[in-house]
Amino acid sequence: MADVELEIVVAFLDKDRGFAYDNKFPWPYLKGDHEFYLNLTTSRKDPSKKNAYIMGRVSWEAWIDEEKCNPHLYTVVTSTTLKSEGVPYLQKVLPDLDAAIDYVTKPPVSDQIEKVFIMGGGRNYEICIDDPRLKRIWVTRIFGDFKANVFFPKFDHKFKRVSCPTLDESMQEDNGVKYQFELWERFTN
Ligand SMILES: NC(=O)c1ccc[n+]([C@@H]2O[C@H](COP(=O)([O-])OP(=O)(O)OC[C@H]3O[C@@H](n4cnc5c(N)ncnc54)[C@H](OP(=O)(O)O)[C@@H]3O)[C@@H](O)[C@H]2O)c1
Repeated sequence: MADVELEIVVAFLDKDRGFAYDNKFPWPYLKGDHEFYLNLTTSRKDPSKKNAYIMGRVSWEAWIDEEKCNPHLYTVVTSTTLKSEGVPYLQKVLPDLDAAIDYVTKPPVSDQIEKVFIMGGGRNYEICIDDPRLKRIWVTRIFGDFKANVFFPKFDHKFKRVSCPTLDESMQEDNGVKYQFELWERFTN
């Protein structure tokens, strides 16, 4: 990959940027957000390529099998304890985020990868915010008084909100919960 561009995808609470509670989402199922993230992260210009997902072990374990098996995804998990051998749908386990990014952005794996998404959890998000290769953050901002115990880092000092012609930024609602999609891009000097 000539120019590595990383993208974060996250849904968090407007009130405190909480994105998980006891290894689950803090809010009820949001159909529109689910469809949005699947469409965003599985679409490719070149259909022969896949998109890489990099995520922490707990996020991997919380993820449903119906999505783990998506043939358009190439999944790498950061973990110091998990072994990839014999784990269905998991391409690789690496001990830190840098190693995971290197793995999917350098040959031979990079030949089959179009985009690289950082899919959580807290530690990977935290490290990635400071990585200049992180260009974009796709946020679903959730409104409501839900309780969280894992939080997305502060990022608006390094990123600015931008509009995107294909992004519907109007207020959405599912299951009685209001939410909005946002795109943020890293400030360029
Ligand atoms: N709302 C959202 O958009 C969103 C997005 C993603 C995930 N989630 C939710 O977030 C929760 C999980 O997030 P979390 O922060 O608690 O856990 P997590 O980061 O997914 O998993 C933590 C574990 O992953 C490994 N790990 C993570 N980052 C690492 C790194 N940089 N280097 C080495 N190992 C690393 C470690 O595993 P070992 O102990 O094996 O070393 C660590 O104990 C789940 O409930 C998931 O559903 C929500």
